[in-house]
Amino acid sequence: MDKIIVRGGKPLAGEVKISGAKNSALKIMAASILTSEPVVIGNVPNIRDVSVMAEVLQGLGVHVERTDGSVTLRARGPIGVEAPYQLVSRMRASIVVLGPLLARLGRARVAMPGGCNIGLRKIDLHIRGLEMLGARIDVGQASIEARADVLVGANIPLDFPSVGATENIMMAASLARGTTVLENAAREPEIVDLADCLNKMGAHISGAGTSTMIIEGAERLHGVTFDIIPDRIEASTFLVAGAITGGDVTVTAVQPEHMAMVLKKLGQVGCEINVGADSINIKGTSAPKSINISTLPHPGFPTDMQAPFMSLLSLARGTSIITENVFENRFTFARELGRLGGRVNIERHHAVVVGGQAFGGGAVKAPDLRAGAALVVAGLAAGGPVEIEDIYHIERGYENFTERLKTLGADIELVRDETPLKLAVGEDGY
Ligand code: EPZ
Repeated sequence: MDKIIVRGGKPLAGEVKISGAKNSALKIMAASILTSEPVVIGNVPNIRDVSVMAEVLQGLGVHVERTDGSVTLRARGPIGVEAPYQLVSRMRASIVVLGPLLARLGRARVAMPGGCNIGLRKIDLHIRGLEMLGARIDVGQASIEARADVLVGANIPLDFPSVGATENIMMAASLARGTTVLENAAREPEIVDLADCLNKMGAHISGAGTSTMIIEGAERLHGVTFDIIPDRIEASTFLVAGAITGGDVTVTAVQPEHMAMVLKKLGQVGCEINVGADSINIKGTSAPKSINISTLPHPGFPTDMQAPFMSLLSLARGTSIITENVFENRFTFARELGRLGGRVNIERHHAVVVGGQAFGGGAVKAPDLRAGAALVVAGLAAGGPVEIEDIYHIERGYENFTERLKTLGADIELVRDETPLKLAVGEDGY
């Protein structure tokens, strides 16, 4: 079992260049289905989720070529209609091929993505929006069957500003007949990035980044060369690592305007923040202050930064309250943090973080991507060695995480388990 071993107590110092945004790259890769011409994407992070999305698209007949930092995709055709379970189950974001397949082919069969341990991850808003565009969709136990002779623009109000639903509907509507008005749309920077890319492909989308988006359907979309925005969550994670170690860390190649709420909260904790045009420096404080945080859709505090802040606030003076408003089960991380000395009491969607703790060494397991990163962050401030297993979660979304932390002075290593899998005769494989 691969694991990460962190020996904390050293203030991080130095500069780290931030990768392209995972949650933009995956969707723009899916947008390649909307044209038969080449889509060349730059600043793509080298992470597992990008590899899985590449496999999903290749399974649909899209030609995918990856070089260091960029991906070239060409859905010349014929394009398949099915995204199978063995791929979709590895990454629920695969659901965003649904809208593009409907727009391109008028058909799609996508395995049900299933939930994960941060919540049910429902897709009812995706389905309802696509049905309002004219699709007929059967949601079965195992898969979603969708058909649309033609997609026609519609007024679509979203009950919740779902990122994935906004993306699926936007991509389908970009080739629909007529105008779609999407109300209560998600406003994340990754939504704006996808809209910018689609517009460069010939779409007519306005209002991206606001709650009301207008999509004028185009006859066809053409190829594009497009660079992904920086990953605001990766950048924020490195800043929290600088904060929790009382260090002096600069993240470069970032767009600070995407991280306003995180920077505000780091300032409230007592860190010194200096913002440049495309860089941010943080000087951590030896006595972080307790604060309250409520996660909300953008531009509110990002739910993906909730776990790293729980690690940081465990060391603050006083008690902090973290309220999770986006996902229904995103506090499982608290149990793992408790194994290192964290004291967090969960009361429904509130986590009461009792500060003044000191992390000790211990063995923990990454429950999911962001909680895994938060365990590394906690380990950077722990008094004893912290061993983290199930690190494949972390490798889904953080490129060369341990190596880059090492360049900042962290005492951290990634231990690959070379032990060959031993299955006794008669034992089930898996
Ligand atoms: C995206 O997930 C991100 N993933 C998540 O990041 C991120 O946490 C989330 O947006 C919120 O910002 C990717 O972009 C690949 P949602 P998504 O649809 O699209 C409910 C990470 O670590 N909902 O905005 O799945 C849903 O249950 C990941 O990189 C419905 O009820 O998020 C959840 O409670 C984790 N019905 C809430 O909305 C629907 O049809 C937010 O979901 C869709 C969503």
